[in-house]
Amino acid sequence: MRLISKSALAAAYLCVATVAATYNGRIKPKVMIMTFFDAEGEIYLTKSNATGALDFRGMRHRVPYASPEFPDLHCTADGDACLMTTGEAEIQATATTMALLADPQLDLGETYWVLTGVGGGAPDQVTLGAITLARFTIQVGMSYEMDARELPPGFDTGYVPQGTVSPEAAWGSVYNSEVFEVNAALRDAFTAMIDPARVADSAAAAAYRAHYAGVPRFAPGAAAPAVHHCDSATSDTWHTGALLAETHAKRVDLWTNGTGTYCTTAQEDGAVLGALVRGALEDRVDFARVAIVRTVSDFDRPYPGQSVMDNLVNGTAGYPIAIENVWVAGDSIARGIINCWNETFRAGIPAQNYVGDVWGVLGGTPDFGPGRVSGGKPVVLPGAKGQQLGRKAKRGMRRSRFQK
Ligand SMILES: *[C@@H]1O[C@H](CO)[C@@H](O)[C@H](O)[C@H]1NC(C)=O
Ligand SMILES: *[C@@H]1O[C@H](CO)[C@@H](O)[C@H](O)[C@H]1NC(C)=O
Ligand SMILES: *[C@@H]1O[C@H](CO)[C@@H](O)[C@H](O)[C@H]1NC(C)=O
Repeated sequence: MRLISKSALAAAYLCVATVAATYNGRIKPKVMIMTFFDAEGEIYLTKSNATGALDFRGMRHRVPYASPEFPDLHCTADGDACLMTTGEAEIQATATTMALLADPQLDLGETYWVLTGVGGGAPDQVTLGAITLARFTIQVGMSYEMDARELPPGFDTGYVPQGTVSPEAAWGSVYNSEVFEVNAALRDAFTAMIDPARVADSAAAAAYRAHYAGVPRFAPGAAAPAVHHCDSATSDTWHTGALLAETHAKRVDLWTNGTGTYCTTAQEDGAVLGALVRGALEDRVDFARVAIVRTVSDFDRPYPGQSVMDNLVNGTAGYPIAIENVWVAGDSIARGIINCWNETFRAGIPAQNYVGDVWGVLGGTPDFGPGRVSGGKPVVLPGAKGQQLGRKAKRGMRRSRFQK
């Protein structure tokens, strides 16, 4: 998701002007880094000079139907690693991901998808600059919404699951983009690739997070940035303030049956994963090869005594290190995949947990959610007995069954 400057756009894109503007072969990336706005993509290009870093200036390929703002895929010269910027929020993220899936120049069957972007962070879990790797992303905005000034008696929030009449309800009408779950064993492998000593911190971030130290529950927010396992909440709406954060944290808990923990806000994660599920149904994507990484650029709520607006407008101290850590995480993971390709990643790391959507359209049985129902009624898919499942989806299903 998110933020602030169009700053280095021109500078960063000049550095690719010297390489071929088009590429006529088929590119078969081992890893696809997905970013969402200019600064998140540019950091990979500007760091391409760094010692040992992947150099994404080696090849540039124009993707039909990509965002007009970010039309090109940037890859290493050998095509092992590619970098895409989708454009911000859910519509751009889904459309760009579908554009990649539809591009006949790309062979994506063995590709690892690593989403790396910045987001807001919950101070009871993480701090500015933290690197988070998720197992779930939850579409917290998929609700009825009532303005706080018109709340019915007894309601402590204006968010109510669609098809229900209470904020306490778990599920009502299911659209099947509410929750996506990814491969936890892969997440663990990727976590091991990130050297905690490389997580960037700054004096400005330290000064800002110190304001949270007075609240025992916010101890993680007042600590130095680290690498965490916790989950992202996707919404087009940039929510801010403690009350919405608490509403969404509760929704994450309910929709993951108590196994997910809200810690970051995102505007794209679920949108990318929704497209990747469709890619998996067409054998274009291995859904067991997807990872969600978010770094924390700002707090989702103010510190004690601070106004919501002050935190929203002035709480930007973590932004530079969050951008830096997008690259620290993404570059580390991409190099890990490429370096250990033959040994580990060509064959893949089988999922031990369920991976996929709420309804299990890729097969397997979701370990969260109400089953394949909406509004209490069974949802019948033409492929419900597995006839329409892609080969890879079925293989993934078998793998996860055998792995139990
Ligand atoms: C942001 O910080 C400036 C400088 O301290 C202050 O004058 C301004 O009121 C703050 N903005 C908000 C919305 O609180
Ligand atoms: C990986 O395997 C391929 C095909 O078997 C081989 O060509 C390549 O040299 C191997 N790479 C490494 C680093 O061992
Ligand atoms: C998850 O919790 C809901 C109630 O919130 C329940 O209906 C459902 O069966 C649970 N799902 C699983 C997989 O345990």
